[in-house]
Amino acid sequence: MKTILITGASTGIGRATAARFQSAGWNVVATMRKPEDAGDLARLDRVRVLPLDVTDCDSIAAAVQATVTEFGSLDVLLNNAGYGLAGPLEAATPAQIERQFATNVYGPIYTMQACLPHFRTQKAGLIINLTSIGGRLALPFNSLYHGTKFGLEGISESLALELAPLGVQVKLVEPGGVRTDFAGRSLDFAKKDGLTAYDASLQGAMSVFMDPERGSDYSEPATIAETIFEAATDGKPQLRYLAGKDAVRMMENRAQMSDEAYRDWVVKEFRL
Ligand SMILES: NC(=O)c1ccc[n+]([C@@H]2O[C@H](COP(=O)([O-])OP(=O)(O)OC[C@H]3O[C@@H](n4cnc5c(N)ncnc54)[C@H](OP(=O)(O)O)[C@@H]3O)[C@@H](O)[C@H]2O)c1
Repeated sequence: MKTILITGASTGIGRATAARFQSAGWNVVATMRKPEDAGDLARLDRVRVLPLDVTDCDSIAAAVQATVTEFGSLDVLLNNAGYGLAGPLEAATPAQIERQFATNVYGPIYTMQACLPHFRTQKAGLIINLTSIGGRLALPFNSLYHGTKFGLEGISESLALELAPLGVQVKLVEPGGVRTDFAGRSLDFAKKDGLTAYDASLQGAMSVFMDPERGSDYSEPATIAETIFEAATDGKPQLRYLAGKDAVRMMENRAQMSDEAYRDWVVKEFRL
């Protein structure tokens, strides 16, 4: 029986993925900052809820060790925990910037480092890093979030090469928009008193981001969980998996545009 460890499994994509793998007969280590948030998930067979904050290396080490002790092996790591920081770069505080990179970039790095000794010993293992189409194209007023996801893409692409000879695979799952707490409870926003220079373009962009029509083709978390399950089980040497119809459409459109044509499209589309 195979075992997956998931970070950020309290809500959204992480929670839906825990349910998807559990229903397929896997052992699921559903980690979260507050295990009391697990609710029904904790009562399912073969699901172990463990505390793990990706900014706390001791909690990462303890969860990985507990997984191997309880289930005898670890087959798949899903680095899912993450959140967005929006707003003008100039307005972001050092604490906001540090937390964004600590969670979305350093967290996955430290979690991979904790799992790799086990994967090397097994001569097998799969790391799935959840990035975003925002790791391959950029929209305005999300520079720091894009920085984290572009960063994790580059780390993953290089790491896939260095781990392949050891029998360990790295894959990327890249969703478009997903109906989760991402744009609500989880979103951080940078603003600075007296900084008004961005008001007009920020207002234009935010009116587009918040337009309910825009979310009409967003995916449900279960759709992204399905793509993650496919990536974990298809046995293919594939690096990237787009997740969601909007993600496929956006990337197809982007591939047909030069950088300049894409920039001009964004300026118009986001009323900058
Ligand atoms: N929703 C989208 O449109 C979208 C699109 C592309 C990519 N993504 C990516 O998908 C991933 C999951 O997001 P989601 O959409 O499912 O949003 P979500 O429902 O807000 O889930 C985010 C999860 O990350 C956890 N988390 C945040 N900081 C953490 C930390 N320091 N340690 C451990 N867990 C932490 C949250 O835990 P708490 O419950 O404790 O806050 C929560 O479980 C993120 O990496 C996000 O960037 C989302």
